[in-house]
Amino acid sequence: MEPEENNKVILEARQGEALKLENPPVSNGKKLFLESYGCQMNFSDSEIVASILYKEGFSTTEILEEADLIFLNTCSIRENAENKVRQRLKTFKKLKQKNPGLLVGVLGCMAERLKTKFLEEEKIVDMVVGPDAYRSLPELISEAEGGQKAVNVILSKEETYADISPVRLASNGVCAYISITRGCDNMCSFCVVPFTRGRERSRDPESIIKEATELFEKGFREVTLLGQNVDSYIWSGGGLKKELLTEEQKAASTNFAQLLELTAKIHPDLRVRFSTSHPKDMTDEVLHIMAKYENICDYVHLPVQSGSTRILEMMNRGYTREWYKQRIESIKKIIPGCGISTDIISGFCSETEEEHNETMSLMEWAGYNFAYMFSYSERPKTLAERKFKDDVSPEIKSRRINEIVNLQKKLSEEKTKQGVGKIHRVLIEGTSKKSEEMYSGRNTQNSVIVFPKENYKVGEYVNVLAERCTPATLIGMVV
Ligand code: 5AD
Ligand code: SF4
Repeated sequence: MEPEENNKVILEARQGEALKLENPPVSNGKKLFLESYGCQMNFSDSEIVASILYKEGFSTTEILEEADLIFLNTCSIRENAENKVRQRLKTFKKLKQKNPGLLVGVLGCMAERLKTKFLEEEKIVDMVVGPDAYRSLPELISEAEGGQKAVNVILSKEETYADISPVRLASNGVCAYISITRGCDNMCSFCVVPFTRGRERSRDPESIIKEATELFEKGFREVTLLGQNVDSYIWSGGGLKKELLTEEQKAASTNFAQLLELTAKIHPDLRVRFSTSHPKDMTDEVLHIMAKYENICDYVHLPVQSGSTRILEMMNRGYTREWYKQRIESIKKIIPGCGISTDIISGFCSETEEEHNETMSLMEWAGYNFAYMFSYSERPKTLAERKFKDDVSPEIKSRRINEIVNLQKKLSEEKTKQGVGKIHRVLIEGTSKKSEEMYSGRNTQNSVIVFPKENYKVGEYVNVLAERCTPATLIGMVV
């Protein structure tokens, strides 16, 4: 779920960009500068933060010099994600000299990982707030205004912010993200997320459906249900985990397939997407629901991480190469033409040349539409850091990731070319980045298509005949 480095970037334009909301009903005269890094979940969390501060009377600004309060919502997934935040903090020093009342807060995964250590390491930070502590922001801000350093990094087993209606930031008014679970219980050996976002918990389906319905009524036409592992979504009234439920409770509970169906039923014109699926948990039941509803997009993001069974075992992913291939076969059988994307980590501890080639051959076999590709980055406290040596040299890591990226470029290009000459149903999302005269949208498989605007409007569905393409974009006209 994390757009960064050498990958297909959906949120690139939003990375590290200040987010803006309307003026609050009752203003406290103060301005917030809110910047987010990392995955869609972080962007979704920033909308919760904005909602909480909006009620407190804060307005937002995109001009740093105007800010009374700066919040960075941070990411810890790889070392360079953290380095970016540290670089950014450096640029705030001068601002603080000019405006001593300025407060700087660090939110999200890096705050959770470093806790009070952050205050020692980065002197300009006034507040450190973990992802489950955003409700306490008003008090923390008051503390910081009183000259104290303010910290809340308590992780919760229950917090889902279900009752907080997010303020849609940097939104095109058409597509929105809805968090359905928080945290992760999977403990992949490379991953810091279970430490920074805590235990997995599911959100009340009623609040999810209410949020999606309200979005549709406001004119939104696409929702993406978000979770670290959406397939493990389960609601049984009290948010209990599957293992703890009696048979009776299980029968009465809502699983991901059922939640997906409820969302699809809101309106046929509301597109439904979701991310991220986990190969060990993705069921055929989910795939059949996708096939049953026209408005659930034919697109699955199914991170493989590695094509080698030995490496997958070291990664604690809970599946083998064969199991993964069988999941892809199910997708292709139940949803012909489904778009498929993946995440890959290259150069994990002890990865051999042969195992690297296994990843490449799996990529070819699967024929991914897109991939997010990363070099392994050792993270403190993870199982891999404690158990294995990060022993693939930087030179080999860099050569392998290049090979992987180049192969994916070829595969993506092939997939895009296959779309030429075909008619695609496209939801218009906005003006194309490259041309004022063109609109941009996506087809059900998540491929971007641009076409002349004519008299169509953002938020409408159109049928577009793709006439030609660049490596990653289809170009056509409405028919
Ligand atoms: N090093 C490199 N990539 C990582 N990811 C998670 N942890 C690491 C790490 N330590 C990648 C995985 C995951 C995606 C969100 O980020 O591919 O699916
Ligand atoms: Fe990290 Fe694995 Fe959980 Fe994804 S499923 S957040 S990679 S521990």
